[in-house]
Amino acid sequence: MDYNLRYQTKQKFISRLWILAISVMIVFLPGHGTSRASDPSPTQVNSLQELVDRFDSSSCRECHEQIFTQWEKSHHSRSLMGINDYIFIASYLKKGPLAIPSGEKATKKNFPCFKCHFPQIEFATDSVAAEIAKAALDNDKVTVRKLNIGCLVCHREKSVVHGRPDMNAIYGNNDIKDHPETPVRKSPLLKNSLMCGQCHGLGPNLEFETPVQCATLYGSYLHAYIPSGGTETCQQCHMPGGDHYMPPNFNNRTELSERLRNSLPMQVRALAYSFQPKEEDIRPMVVVNTKIFSKAGHRIPDG
Ligand code: HEC
Ligand code: HEC
Ligand code: HEC
Ligand code: HEC
Ligand code: HEC
Repeated sequence: MDYNLRYQTKQKFISRLWILAISVMIVFLPGHGTSRASDPSPTQVNSLQELVDRFDSSSCRECHEQIFTQWEKSHHSRSLMGINDYIFIASYLKKGPLAIPSGEKATKKNFPCFKCHFPQIEFATDSVAAEIAKAALDNDKVTVRKLNIGCLVCHREKSVVHGRPDMNAIYGNNDIKDHPETPVRKSPLLKNSLMCGQCHGLGPNLEFETPVQCATLYGSYLHAYIPSGGTETCQQCHMPGGDHYMPPNFNNRTELSERLRNSLPMQVRALAYSFQPKEEDIRPMVVVNTKIFSKAGHRIPDG
């Protein structure tokens, strides 16, 4: 009924609407090349569970078992948990410019960190931010561990930089029309370092009421590694063969030490000699020359 009414109204005024639409285009098109006003703005959910469900990666596991297992072990799969499984965001909610008297009082403004640690927040209302703040302050690890940089964050949200991604597609390296559930579209930047640079930072994030600075490694990659002749992308070094584990993994100390030994090789040259200022006075001397090389495509450590 409602639909019919709307349909008739649409029929009646269709020509007027066209005129209106054209004049709107004329008014807005010139000089609005970079405007995103015409992109459909994402709808927002009211509960954390809905947000988690919307970005749930578990359905991908069935067919992409190996990638899923690699991702599950990566820092991306627990992007609000710090080293050794602690909820780092809690201390910022207790003290400093982002602090709040209680979880319920939190809004999205308390979470500039989510720009990179949990970009899905864009699809949620302030009440979801309050739920997360409450979970963080209650040290509710079961809830906070569910919040991650999952498959759809990279393979949809971060796969295009001009305009909004197609919400009915997944983005990959190729077009796959018959992909189960949703077609795969070729992303223009999945293989590009900018893909990672969107979160691995360039500098302070001054767009927030409380500006923050965290990871800035992409700046070092662009301004130091590339100008000195570097040719590899983030993906070539960190995702060989499409591996989604993306080390270093700071929770695995043995593996981390081994990786750093290989990526920061040390060259030591030594010369031993004796110095005899007087007849009875023989002093053993040594010259040690040490050089540490870095195989990384940017400064380390970062952040
Ligand atoms: C029922 C099985 C199935 C499910 C479920 C599934 N996929 Fe796939 N997917 C495939 C197959 C088969 C291919 C094509 C072969 C390949 O490249 O692995 C593919 C390809 C892809 C590609 C493109 C690879 C390329 O060539 O660039 C991406 C990205 C992808 N899937 C992501 C996902 C994500 C994310 C999910 C979960 C939302 C998912 N898939 C769920 C079967 C599945
Ligand atoms: C511009 C994107 C960005 C913003 C904004 C951001 N971070 Fe980060 N953060 C990262 C990235 C990327 C890493 C991991 C890579 C690195 O450290 O170089 C990281 C790492 C961390 C780590 C280390 C985690 C671990 O497991 O070792 C902590 C803690 C952290 N961030 C806290 C915060 C807090 C708190 C805020 C907000 C006040 C914040 N970040 C804002 C991108 C960001
Ligand atoms: C941090 C971002 C990120 C996350 C999270 C992520 N991917 Fe990827 N994925 C990439 C990038 C980048 C590539 C392209 C790598 C390349 O071609 O060098 C890729 C490639 C792929 C491919 C194609 C592999 C191939 O060999 O061509 C599949 C399939 C895929 N991802 C599935 C998934 C699934 C499933 C998940 C979740 C379990 C996931 N990805 C999570 C960034 C991500
Ligand atoms: C949506 C934002 C986002 C994107 C896109 C992203 N990352 Fe990350 N990445 C993070 C955050 C946040 C962390 C830290 C999570 C934590 O431990 O709390 C991280 C952690 C890492 C780590 C582990 C080391 C560390 O300091 O925690 C590596 C390596 C890494 N990312 C590489 C990549 C590469 C390579 C790409 C591109 C293929 C990429 N990331 C894309 C946000 C992102
Ligand atoms: C030439 C290879 C190379 C390139 C290119 C490269 N990395 Fe790295 N990256 C390394 C090495 C080597 C390390 C040292 C740790 C290790 O070996 O696991 C490292 C460490 C890191 C870390 C951990 C930083 C820390 O504080 O310890 C992050 C995060 C990271 N890389 C992300 C990226 C991103 C994002 C890009 C692209 C903008 C990138 N890397 C480009 C080789 C590379």
